[in-house]
Amino acid sequence: MTWFPERRRPTWLQRLCEAILKSGPVPQHVAIIMDGNRRFAVKNSLEKCEGHVKGFDKLAETLEWCLDLGITEVTVYAFSIENFKRSPDEVNGLMELSRQKFAKLLEERNLIQEQEVCVRIIGDISLLPRDLQELLAEAVNISANNKRAVLNVCFAYTARDDMCNAMRELSIGVKDGLIRESDISENMLEKCLYTSHSRSVDLLIRTSGEVRLSDFLLWESAYSCLAFVKVLWPEFSVWHLYAAILHYQRNYNKIQIARQNLMIERERLQRESDHLCMLEEEAEACSKLETPPSSKQSVAAVNSNITQNKNAQALVQQYAKARKEREKEFLASV
Ligand code: FPP
Ligand code: MG
Repeated sequence: MTWFPERRRPTWLQRLCEAILKSGPVPQHVAIIMDGNRRFAVKNSLEKCEGHVKGFDKLAETLEWCLDLGITEVTVYAFSIENFKRSPDEVNGLMELSRQKFAKLLEERNLIQEQEVCVRIIGDISLLPRDLQELLAEAVNISANNKRAVLNVCFAYTARDDMCNAMRELSIGVKDGLIRESDISENMLEKCLYTSHSRSVDLLIRTSGEVRLSDFLLWESAYSCLAFVKVLWPEFSVWHLYAAILHYQRNYNKIQIARQNLMIERERLQRESDHLCMLEEEAEACSKLETPPSSKQSVAAVNSNITQNKNAQALVQQYAKARKEREKEFLASV
């Protein structure tokens, strides 16, 4: 099957359900752990690899349903770093399937342009065979300007690996003097993740009845609605997708409140950090002016001086501006 198969006409019931769901909040970013391909293969007396082929076909179908619903970003777990531990036969089979599917995508590049879908690969692609890396890079390049929807394919990915990389980038930034240790924040770490260009994950679906995240989007799903679906991935139907969206809509208000509280808390922490750093800078500047070391002002003394000073707010703003400049320069280098 191709990435964009011939469209089947939706039934009237499907159209009705779609319209009802669209009258409520539709998740903009849906992430999927496509689990259960091998169990599907065993259940249907197929080779393991056939299970993954069926899994790909289901992905293509699901993308179509998502586009119809107005979902603008889909992230799928196609291959975890942990999956390299599977038998060489299965790993090679999955690599070959990916080769075929991405080569097909390039062959049918007009379709992806028509659908205006931008493909991004998330993960450490250096772990993949060279020829596959090239195919993936080309798929990303040809679709980079497509604006209707984004498909993130997580390949050679685990969330913990992503977070470790982000931390490494930050520590290099500090070592090279581009940023200060105090500049490191949740916001900054988030901007170093592979998903830095993505919107937040609204709904995360896992099929096959397993109820764990298996190192998938651990950071990004902190405030997502989770839907665990009992069917194996190749058995996933549009009705399961609708049910997951309904589950999201039922929990929408609570999720939004939790996200708003998170944003408020992050801003408060940043303001507090900027204030403290500004005080430390001022204390250091004062100590350089005072000649005898005994007359050095303590941070607390500067604090009380500055709190009385009308310029305190302006100084914090000035510090925050300089911090943002450092962050911008650092992120451009990442
Ligand atoms: C999990 O089921 C599935 C995978 C590890 C592979 C998923 C890959 C695809 C659906 C193909 C995607 C291909 C492209 C080109 C994007 P499992 O193998 O863990 O099955 P099990 O849980 O029954 O053992
Ligand atoms: Mg599995």
